[in-house]
Amino acid sequence: MELIFGTHNHNKVEEINKLLPPNFTVKSLTDLNYYSEIEESGKTLEENALIKAKTIFNTFKKNCFSDDSGLEVFALGGKPGVYSARYEGKQKNAEANTNKILQELKGIDNRQAQFRSVIALIFNETEYLFEGIIKGEISHSPRGRNGFGYDPIFIPEKQHVTFAQLTLFEKNKISHRSKAFKKLIEFLKS
Ligand code: IMP
Repeated sequence: MELIFGTHNHNKVEEINKLLPPNFTVKSLTDLNYYSEIEESGKTLEENALIKAKTIFNTFKKNCFSDDSGLEVFALGGKPGVYSARYEGKQKNAEANTNKILQELKGIDNRQAQFRSVIALIFNETEYLFEGIIKGEISHSPRGRNGFGYDPIFIPEKQHVTFAQLTLFEKNKISHRSKAFKKLIEFLKS
């Protein structure tokens, strides 16, 4: 079975390929030479994932899926959420984004947070949503060099280190994205 994954991020493609049974083939937007910008104008992760999946479906008329993820900080009312990539401006600077969160949490005891990932699948012209969550808390300062985005300030539950202190293999075993990917794959296999 062939599916289009609405991403140019080869790390994400590699991550899902490692989980997929051999009879599935995933093609990325890079594989398909599709470089148009898809505007992520939704107000929720669900809306953005669906906008991307629908755009791809309307272009290729093939089974496809897209993901959108974000960090949700409890004491900030779920922010930055859907705005995670551009929390501190359009330049999408990960260090500036993490510093902004640390600044906003100064003096606040409740540092609970979660990463949430939503996958929108269009399969046989029907829409489906799959969600993956990893709960944890925000550290007091950045730690670790691995990963990307908010990884240096996110301590997943049952761990004492940040996502950026885990190897990619360790992170992928518990991450929000891998949980959502696994739900998608269970659905496709059934
Ligand atoms: P995307 O939807 O996967 O591209 O994620 C959007 C933004 O959410 C990223 O640019 C990061 O700021 C943040 N984010 C999502 N997943 C992760 C993660 O696993 N680690 C750190 N930051 C993440």
